[in-house]
Amino acid sequence: MRLIVAASSFDSMSTMHFAARTDFGHESSPFGDALQHAKQDPAFIDLTVSNPTRCGFDYSAIPLNALATEASLHYDANSFGMQSARDAVAGLYSGISAEQILLTASTSEAYGYLFKLLCEPGDSVLVPSPSYPLFDLLARLHDVDLIKYPLVYHDGWQIDPTSLGAAVTTRTRGIIAIHPNNPTGHYCSETDRAVLYDVARRHDLPLIVDEVFLDYGIENMERSFAIPDAPVTTFVMGGLSKLIALPQMKLAWTIVCGPEGDTSKALQRLEVIADTFLSVATPVQMALPTWLSARQQVQQQILQRVRTNLATLDGAIQGAVVSRLKVEGGWCAVLRVPAVTDDVALAVRLLEEASVAVHPGSFYGFPEKGWLVVSLLGNPEQFVAGLQRMLPLL
Ligand SMILES: Cc1ncc(COP(=O)(O)O)c(C=O)c1O
Repeated sequence: MRLIVAASSFDSMSTMHFAARTDFGHESSPFGDALQHAKQDPAFIDLTVSNPTRCGFDYSAIPLNALATEASLHYDANSFGMQSARDAVAGLYSGISAEQILLTASTSEAYGYLFKLLCEPGDSVLVPSPSYPLFDLLARLHDVDLIKYPLVYHDGWQIDPTSLGAAVTTRTRGIIAIHPNNPTGHYCSETDRAVLYDVARRHDLPLIVDEVFLDYGIENMERSFAIPDAPVTTFVMGGLSKLIALPQMKLAWTIVCGPEGDTSKALQRLEVIADTFLSVATPVQMALPTWLSARQQVQQQILQRVRTNLATLDGAIQGAVVSRLKVEGGWCAVLRVPAVTDDVALAVRLLEEASVAVHPGSFYGFPEKGWLVVSLLGNPEQFVAGLQRMLPLL
């Protein structure tokens, strides 16, 4: 205790400078506090679970011994990543070659590289709303402003061309699309694709397309933006964290496609950025070809789980005041609930009175009343039990 007092009095005297971009505000939040408290309850049910390695999937199809080859002991510094690993990634797409592919440790890291590639401090990129809150922090850490363009919902999500065009400013340097989006599960349709290409072309902007959930189509699955004849410079991202549900293995990729001149320049510059970090470990690159060929065994389990939980959800909300939005893909469902209380207050109440965690929709950019987000990844018995406890409280 004495040590803590000493440290805090020292803190108040300290004049050390910290960069404003890391002034995150460490004060507690009502949701965070209630979550910590609820986790002490043995009956706690987490309907926000997003870590696939904690969901009981069978990973035996992914041989760990593929990491432990003799070649893993030899280091061959290659800024873009090992040729064999990039060839394996290229094999996931049609008409894409290893020369267009850059490996990174994660897509989060790849976003950082792209922000560094495209933006001066204070420039902006456009990002769909609702979407995953990670982008706010990533942009902030790279001194980039995020400008949100709204997705609209009419029997399914779509990009509104007028709002997207209106979001572009003289400092905009790229347009992010998430295909399919998290948490809405929205795949960019052919119409969305045409809108994105049109706005990008008119303003001479590249597209950054996050396809980490591409293989998890529930109703349908749209094709990748990684195509040889992309009409605008397009950076397409994917990675192991979702593709084979192994976030701990730390391997992702960015494909650069589009008109020749700008893509070559982009690759040249990315090579130097990547060479500065050389962040991907050799063993995981060695294992990649074997693991990618086994991906369907993991994906099928996840798709089955998502479908089962979605069917359970539909059964549970029948006749209730709750409905769900269309889920085209991904690992989440968005619930429409009576818009009477603030969504954070509602999620706190569910933690306190039902010991069930769900995410308030506002975490992802939904309005502050009327939306909750649940993960479809968790154990089905826990999922049904969580719904049974929370639905009567809505
Ligand atoms: C849409 C989207 N992109 C990227 C990420 C981060 O992926 P990675 O683990 O490769 O950084 C997430 C994480 O959930 C995500 O939802």
